[in-house]
Amino acid sequence: MGLPRSNHGEDYKRGGIPVSSSLFRTKSVEQSIRDTEEPEHALKKSLSSLDLTVFGIGVVIGTGIFVLTGLIAKQTAGPSVALAFVVAGVVCALAALCYAEFASTVPVAGSAYTFSYASLGELPAWIIGWDLILELALGCAVVAVGWSGYVRSLMDTAGIGMPQALSGTQNGKFGFDLLAAVLVLVLTGILVLGMKLSSRVTTVIVAVKVTVVLLVIIVGAFYITGSNYHPFIPHKVQGSGSSSLSAPLVQLFGFTPGSFGVMGIFTAAAVVFFAFIGFDIVATAAEETRNPQRDVPRGILGSLAICTVLYVAVSIVVTGMQKYTQLSTDAPLADAFKSVGHPFWAGVISFGAAVGLTSVCMILLLGQSRVFFAMSRDGLLPKVFSRVHPKFGTPYRSTILLGLIVALVAGFTSISELAELVNIGTLFAFILVAVGVIILRRKRPDLPRAFRTPLVPLVPVVSALASFWLMLNLPAETWIRFGIWMVIGGVVYVWYGRKHSRMAERAEQ
Ligand code: ALA
Repeated sequence: MGLPRSNHGEDYKRGGIPVSSSLFRTKSVEQSIRDTEEPEHALKKSLSSLDLTVFGIGVVIGTGIFVLTGLIAKQTAGPSVALAFVVAGVVCALAALCYAEFASTVPVAGSAYTFSYASLGELPAWIIGWDLILELALGCAVVAVGWSGYVRSLMDTAGIGMPQALSGTQNGKFGFDLLAAVLVLVLTGILVLGMKLSSRVTTVIVAVKVTVVLLVIIVGAFYITGSNYHPFIPHKVQGSGSSSLSAPLVQLFGFTPGSFGVMGIFTAAAVVFFAFIGFDIVATAAEETRNPQRDVPRGILGSLAICTVLYVAVSIVVTGMQKYTQLSTDAPLADAFKSVGHPFWAGVISFGAAVGLTSVCMILLLGQSRVFFAMSRDGLLPKVFSRVHPKFGTPYRSTILLGLIVALVAGFTSISELAELVNIGTLFAFILVAVGVIILRRKRPDLPRAFRTPLVPLVPVVSALASFWLMLNLPAETWIRFGIWMVIGGVVYVWYGRKHSRMAERAEQ
């Protein structure tokens, strides 16, 4: 481990640049693209717009629709969970319009991280990169644990039991989630072997997953009972303690916390937002895309539109099949079929869900290794993580390191609070991207933009406000955990990233 060079003057100046401007030094768009062309740091360019859309759907449809729909309908929104999906979908669509412009202007690996380096400066880029690692790594762990639950449920049906000690922590009893950890390790191996292989595997998995979701909608529609929709928006239930850290932060602004009612729709939206996470990851694959200017915006907006329609349809069907108070919180889609006397369909759905969650987990893992890779290539994290494998052309070191960490997190932690932490991190990234679009338009109006966000600055401003509103609907304790993660990131940046940054080295030359 190389220690930072000791240079006291560095606290004030770096290569003649005052520290205040070094924090906001930007990496030019041209420089970002040139860096990707250096042979030892170059990823293979093999993806098309169809690959990207498949990638998008592959990661977006997952635990959110298969698990959170039932949980949130039961606890927070009733049948109006469908409206929560619409709210979350609108927030994501606004963010997608900003993401698409950024991705088509700065076609290099790293997603919002790279885009902010080119527009907002190094410190904001570090913040967003650190934030994305949280989103993607914890998101992957959450999905792996969800996957393990579905697989265990299938194993139970087949009469194969898992010992409690290897089934994760349940009902306060500590355990290691072996299946979740093994899944992450196997997927890490596939990613190290190369993009093309993982993209083919993903295509098959996405087909199974979309078929199962369509099956829920089409077959389930025959078992809807109209009375289950009354009340569509259940009456508000007051929260037990208004100062509880588990209540949405929005209470600080005079709204009383609680479940159901109209405000319950927004509380629900802040959680089911998890179901949309991943469309932004299409942007992280920009560098590996043959024609990023055209294909990335298509991939992002296409996958988002398809998923929103499917989510709303699934929630309407499921809450119509079974009274929301009766919905299961582990496997709600499958159990709704059991409740109308069709265990066969329930088995098919459980199988498809388990298969589908595999691809979500894999793409989240891919996205985070690419963000880590981009940060390392820029010198903000140790360089050793950005060498690509001579044969496979993949950033194998960062992939393996993060795979091991995620496997441990997935093995030792439970789902619910992690999902909220993932959401707050993602919404924060959306805000920075929206601000970045406005800044880049001002600073670099000359850059060619294959996709232009409409009505700038109105759309980015509304996007940032909408994301902030959903953040406010998350619990206060989630804000605290997020704050702690960001403070740790700040320390790492000051001790390592700021001094080893490639931009700092260039400034000195
Ligand atoms: N959107 C992904 C899911 O629902 C992360 O699992």
